[in-house]
Amino acid sequence: MKCCLPYGVAGDNMEITVSASDNINGTLILPMYEGVEEIPEECERGLPQGMKSQINRVLADGDFKAKKKSTMSLIGGEDGKVILAGLGKSGEVSVHDFRKSGAAVFASIKKVHGNDFTVRFTEAGVAHMAAFAEGMMLRNYSYDEYKMKDEEETDSEHQVRLTCSEKESEELSTLVNKYRGITKGVHLSRDLGNCPPNDMYPEVFADMAWEWAKDFDNVDVTIINYEQAIKAGMGGLVAVGKGSSRKPCMVIFEMNKNVKGRCPVLVGKGITFDTGGISLKPGANMDEMKYDMGGSATVFGTMEALAQTGHEGKVVAITCMAENMPAANATRPGDVIKGLSGKTIEVLNTDAEGRLVLSDGLWKAGEYDPEFIIDFATLTGACVVALGHEATGLWSNDDDFRTEIHEAGNAVDELAWPMPLLPAFEKEMTDSKIADTRNLGAGRYGGANTAAAFLKQFVPNRDFDKDGEQITWAHMDIAGTYWGAKSNSMVKNGATGVHVRTIHHLITNR
Ligand code: BES
Ligand code: ZN
Ligand code: ZN
Repeated sequence: MKCCLPYGVAGDNMEITVSASDNINGTLILPMYEGVEEIPEECERGLPQGMKSQINRVLADGDFKAKKKSTMSLIGGEDGKVILAGLGKSGEVSVHDFRKSGAAVFASIKKVHGNDFTVRFTEAGVAHMAAFAEGMMLRNYSYDEYKMKDEEETDSEHQVRLTCSEKESEELSTLVNKYRGITKGVHLSRDLGNCPPNDMYPEVFADMAWEWAKDFDNVDVTIINYEQAIKAGMGGLVAVGKGSSRKPCMVIFEMNKNVKGRCPVLVGKGITFDTGGISLKPGANMDEMKYDMGGSATVFGTMEALAQTGHEGKVVAITCMAENMPAANATRPGDVIKGLSGKTIEVLNTDAEGRLVLSDGLWKAGEYDPEFIIDFATLTGACVVALGHEATGLWSNDDDFRTEIHEAGNAVDELAWPMPLLPAFEKEMTDSKIADTRNLGAGRYGGANTAAAFLKQFVPNRDFDKDGEQITWAHMDIAGTYWGAKSNSMVKNGATGVHVRTIHHLITNR
């Protein structure tokens, strides 16, 4: 990681500095409000005359209307290049619009704009300017590990200078620095999700976590390998992963473990490829099931974001890693298994495997005296049917907690939509003829809700006291939002890295 003090910030291949100087370095980026017909006075400082008249012409002629997320590139002028960025109507513009505008600018950048940029804002608060930078950083991502590159491309580093007043610079710098750290977490989640399944399997994920933790004094990673998982009685994890030559494992991250008291515990579904197992999926689009470890990527990315931003509280994350394959030794529909909780599960469909690995992850979470447990999973196609790619499904055994997560999502513009955890769904999932629970609902309907109701059976009571109170828990079904989200302005394609920002916000603002 690069660092440029005192007010410097380094992104993946983007360095953002904050400056009160009038100089313009490289291409000028001007975020503008709708209805403005000439460059605002506060923006004019140091602008060459030719550039000024070129900008004023497109504004006066109405060629650039500054609609939300619009951009216009002026590259012909002798005095330098400009990108105009639309924010929408002043007075109606939120931090989210600034973030989207920053992302739109970055999406529009081509080689001709060079690598140096200066952003000059008009009438924007520090939070808004920082959000614009955050949008630029988030959108500055492409997964090209598997493409041949020429040397020039690999070296290009973007230098972005945000101009603001002297008195704003320290606060802006601090915020941008925080967003840089969070963006690293989002991009890590995206890298993990985009990696092809022949190179991303349980052991690789575990190795990456192990290597990653070496960079931080305050994070420990424990890997429970296949043999240990069998010994420990992780029957759900083992049942899903045993049919693959890439054996399953559980990876546990502990941050600031010596801090006393209860802590958030995050749990992630990490199916590095979901064929459906013996209940084999149809062939069309099966490649998309490489994203089925999105929950574990969210959890790992969140730990990175927390570590990068210097979080001082204790946080635990548990990822349940397995590859769901058909094989002679794979779990069959009809098998009855028993996991850590001691409850038996009738496996009626091996494609409903996420809930099996999570049943062990959730139970294991109880060992860490959780303040609350949140699990993340690309769990059901039914959730995508219900909410499309626009919102994550959100269930909780505590209404206030569910509202808190919903609001954390709103705060960072990542929608998590409240869904019902009804007794009828729990009844459906505990109504097996021969076991304590069943991994499949009785009919076709309400599949995302029955999945959530199944998970609830494996959320332990506090201190595992059978008469005690169930630990506060929420389930986030990210099947639709972790990938394929075309309306997500921060992402061009592939894994989205959704909810790293939500959960960072939730944990650090509590
Ligand atoms: N990984 C899938 C869910 C999924 C579907 C994620 C589409 C992303 C996009 C999950 O393991 C699964 O196959 N669920 C089944 C459950 C069913 C058998 C009860 C489903 O949704 O069809
Ligand atoms: Zn499945
Ligand atoms: Zn799955």
